[in-house]
Amino acid sequence: MTILVTGAAGFIGHNLCLALLERGEQVVGVDSLNDYYDPALKRARLERLAGFEQFRFAQVDLADDGALERAVSPDAITHIVNLAAQAGVRYSIENPRAYVRSNLSGYANVLEFARAAKNLKHLVYASSSSVYGDRSDGPFRESDPVIKPVSLYSATKISGEALSESYAHLYGIPMTGLRFFTVYGAWGRPDMAYWIFTEKILKGETIDIFAAGEMSRDFTYIDDIITALGQIVDTPPQTINEKDVPHEIYNLGNSAPTPLMDLVHAVEKTCGREAKKNFMPKQMGDVSKTFADISKAKTAFNYNPKTTIEQGIPVFVDWYRDFYNI
Ligand SMILES: NC(=O)c1ccc[n+]([C@@H]2O[C@H](COP(=O)([O-])OP(=O)(O)OC[C@H]3O[C@@H](n4cnc5c(N)ncnc54)[C@H](O)[C@@H]3O)[C@@H](O)[C@H]2O)c1
Repeated sequence: MTILVTGAAGFIGHNLCLALLERGEQVVGVDSLNDYYDPALKRARLERLAGFEQFRFAQVDLADDGALERAVSPDAITHIVNLAAQAGVRYSIENPRAYVRSNLSGYANVLEFARAAKNLKHLVYASSSSVYGDRSDGPFRESDPVIKPVSLYSATKISGEALSESYAHLYGIPMTGLRFFTVYGAWGRPDMAYWIFTEKILKGETIDIFAAGEMSRDFTYIDDIITALGQIVDTPPQTINEKDVPHEIYNLGNSAPTPLMDLVHAVEKTCGREAKKNFMPKQMGDVSKTFADISKAKTAFNYNPKTTIEQGIPVFVDWYRDFYNI
């Protein structure tokens, strides 16, 4: 297997590269190393991979037409995991074009690369729980309609699923889309609430709590995601006849929506101090709740997330203190 991982310097991408390298795979990582958040963190993540001789990295902006093919020969690749994206709901209000660039043009270029890759067995790509829109019910099932995006980020993720379906249909490329639900953990993302709360609580600064804390998220720990991803990469969708489209979509969540205030309390408890809190209205683009039905992934891959926030947050905070020498 030679696996192309896009977004290899990202939170999920570099953790996946590490797991694949540890099991002996050849991995080609690409990333633009953009400055949406501190590129030094992205470079530090790549440092963890640099010691493996089966790892190669190329700095590529996927939205530049032809750049991926210039850096990597399509015929050398047997599997692709597309994790590169402009992530984050709130930033899509500020900088919509970054989402169109990376998530639409960039992903279209990955699909064109996949079409040219004669030895390709499977393309796995990241979607998001945000495709479900703003719902107060749950759990969310893969068969539920996903037609009411409340942010441009969500709209680009729904579009990514549609682009994938068309390539799976037209060219028979086996594809698996993964709707991740608020993934967190060590080496995580500085734009996410658990990181911002930790940073500010340790500095004694006030934290903003949006929607007056009346939100819940299906927090999913990174190790549970990586265990599943390792298995999913190996398992392309099976087709029964040539009319079948080889494209499946799975929720990867924890199936345990957790109130935002429980996250705040878990961070406070781990940091050993109470946060100064500033309660704010709901922000544009935010959803009230995410809640995954994970039975489809359970049946297909024995997906079995185990980590609660009471277990996962202390691991993150320990990593954070260690990384920043606090
Ligand atoms: N972490 C979560 O909670 C979560 C939830 C739902 C979906 N996702 C999706 O999972 C994937 C990985 O997310 P993450 O949390 O690791 O985010 P991340 O921002 O840490 O990683 C994404 C990486 O993609 C790179 N990138 C962005 N645009 C690029 C481009 N045009 N060309 C090349 N590289 C580019 C970035 O530099 C970054 O390193 C993304 O598709 C994201 O939308 C993540």
